[in-house]
Amino acid sequence: MAKIVILSASVSPTSRSRTGARYCEQKLQELGCETDFIDLAEVPLPPYPQGAEDKTLQSACDRFNAGEGLLVATPTYNFGASGTLLTFLHYALGSDAGKRWRPFCVLASMSGLRSALAVDYVTRTLIMERQSVAVGPPLVGIGDASMNAVTGELSADMRNRVDSQLRALVHYTEAWRNFPQD
Ligand SMILES: Cc1cc2nc3c(=O)[nH]c(=O)nc-3n(C[C@H](O)[C@H](O)[C@H](O)COP(=O)(O)O)c2cc1C
Repeated sequence: MAKIVILSASVSPTSRSRTGARYCEQKLQELGCETDFIDLAEVPLPPYPQGAEDKTLQSACDRFNAGEGLLVATPTYNFGASGTLLTFLHYALGSDAGKRWRPFCVLASMSGLRSALAVDYVTRTLIMERQSVAVGPPLVGIGDASMNAVTGELSADMRNRVDSQLRALVHYTEAWRNFPQD
């Protein structure tokens, strides 16, 4: 059973990206995966490296590095990923401990598709730091047009895009399990 870690980087109580990440969690479980949901709203994140000794933060980094596949969800702020995500990655990718060649997807909430390319560099970070393997482009546009603000339900079009990419993520994660590790 593929173990996929879902990292949610928004600290907003009404976060769209967290709602999207929870949808992915449910979908991945339906596809037979074991999931671990890391919500950064529950993790202390002082600027790097001031939290290096914090046990809750260390445990979140260990859980992130233990995943066989990854789903990283972030808000878009000022045409970029959230600083919360970047700070967490400074800690989680700071040591050489994580597994390599892991498949991953990125999901981003935003107010409009004008920022569709804004989180591309998160993909580059994961590839360059861990030789991770991007499964498709970032899933962008989780916003008012694709999510019901009251119920959190995704539009049919967004569900189709997410479902299709998650199926690919599971497939590649299963393949990763059979790949001889260094
Ligand atoms: C400070 C700030 C900057 C933002 N910058 C952008 C942006 O550059 N592009 C965009 O499409 N939306 C932008 N937004 C809107 C957020 O991406 C949107 O509200 C998103 O849902 C926030 O993520 P969350 O709901 O997962 O917390 C910004 C919002 C804030 C508060």
